[in-house]
Amino acid sequence: MGKDTLTITDNRTGKTYELEIKDGTIRSLDLRQIKVSKEDFGLMGYDPAFTNTASCRSQVTFIDGAKGILMYRGYPIEQLAEQSSFLETAYLLIYGELPNGEQLDEWEGNLKHHTFIHENIRKLLGGFRYDAHPMGMLVSMLGALSTFYPKSKRIRDPEIRKEQFYRLIAKTPTLAAFSFRHTRGLPMIYPDNDLSYAGNFLNMLWKMSEAKYEPNPVLEKALDVLFILHGDHEQNCSANAMRSVGSSEADPYCAAAAAAAALYGPLHGGANEQVLRMLVEIGSIKNVPGYVKRVKEGELLLMGFGHRVYKNYDPRAQIIKGIADQVFEVTGRNPLLDIALELERIALQDDYFVKRKLYPNVDFYSGLIYQAMGFPVEMYPVLFAIGRMPGWIGQWVEMLDDKEQKIARPRQIYTGYQKRDYLALDKRVPVADKAAVATQAPT
Ligand code: SDX
Repeated sequence: MGKDTLTITDNRTGKTYELEIKDGTIRSLDLRQIKVSKEDFGLMGYDPAFTNTASCRSQVTFIDGAKGILMYRGYPIEQLAEQSSFLETAYLLIYGELPNGEQLDEWEGNLKHHTFIHENIRKLLGGFRYDAHPMGMLVSMLGALSTFYPKSKRIRDPEIRKEQFYRLIAKTPTLAAFSFRHTRGLPMIYPDNDLSYAGNFLNMLWKMSEAKYEPNPVLEKALDVLFILHGDHEQNCSANAMRSVGSSEADPYCAAAAAAAALYGPLHGGANEQVLRMLVEIGSIKNVPGYVKRVKEGELLLMGFGHRVYKNYDPRAQIIKGIADQVFEVTGRNPLLDIALELERIALQDDYFVKRKLYPNVDFYSGLIYQAMGFPVEMYPVLFAIGRMPGWIGQWVEMLDDKEQKIARPRQIYTGYQKRDYLALDKRVPVADKAAVATQAPT
């Protein structure tokens, strides 16, 4: 094996350069020295959507897309789903180690202390229409939390940071449940700190006139495991948003609002909602071949399939399929499952999907469970956000403490007009619809 370097010859000048290879990467900044003249800015890498760019070093989550491996801080997701709890996993994602008994008790005690939200936030909810999407409400209220905790701007103070971890993890289910109750015109149910994290969430969602809500233990456990499975996923779109906004030293609530906004997109965490809508649209197994045909013709995406990193089965989807059986024991089988299984059966043998390495991802089956548990489709991305909050926090802390990181500010390739003089009003010709022609370099 030779040296860990890359020798590049610039054929424009005949010069050669030797760049260091470290951790399977070259530093993009090492390309800058490659110039054709002293005035030349030097080379950059061009990588739209960062498909081949490492933006950071991270110890939080490891994914092997080819082998379908997912580990949080080195622990396989299968073991955490089987043996851990969401709050214990949240601690692991943020602090890097599993808590001992005393640390876990203190962690859970502090989280219980922060489940309530300021009454003014509850009143803010009243400003939304009855049919407001709960994810839009969550994004708004996460940002609003920053106005109640101005000290959170002291992002380098470890004690102040810790308080925000508690608030973000503890209050997100309350914000989520309050948003749901608002859309149903139901009175808010306040947290019941006697219950577990998932149990209290179910309480705030479903409690009616009974004196004390008693969560179904199977559904409570299933929800806790689903939160674990959504805990983190390395540099996904929303984690990137959390890091990018956090890199300007904005407070963690504004960064979390940005992350939740990114997650809301149908290509990211909003996919679980789109999967259910897709299954309802398909309607029956006999319609599956026709739908798949439309996908293969490029008319539609098969929501819940495909992944930027996994080119194999998403390990989370496997585990979720197992949870579905347990939930359906309680709720009754979701008939849409048959359509989902048929879609998977066809896709896993059809060359269109096999060639593109499209497998079910975390969003393909989760919605079936949520629907069986009584959640409306609009709540699915909100459930994803609850699970992902500790991951966003873990990524945010790691970014802030990484000496290599600073404010995120990518470069660009400019394809716009060269210098031109201002045009007097009477000299202007009617412009075609700019948005329609924007992709053409201006002449
Ligand atoms: C999540 O990043 C993460 O880790 C995200 C996440 C997390 O935990 O944070 O795992 C959560 O967001 C899961 C993904 C949820 N989204 C969906 O299920 C939406 C449907 N999936 C696609 O939008 C897509 O697969 C992405 C966005 C997930 C990944 O897209 P990529 O990596 O940019 O892949 P691509 O668009 O370059 O696709 C490669 C080819 C293309 O075909 P060709 O142009 O080569 O002919 O595969 C096709 C795509 O058209 N393709 C699909 C498809 N996904 C990709 N065709 C049909 N249906 C699909 N779902």
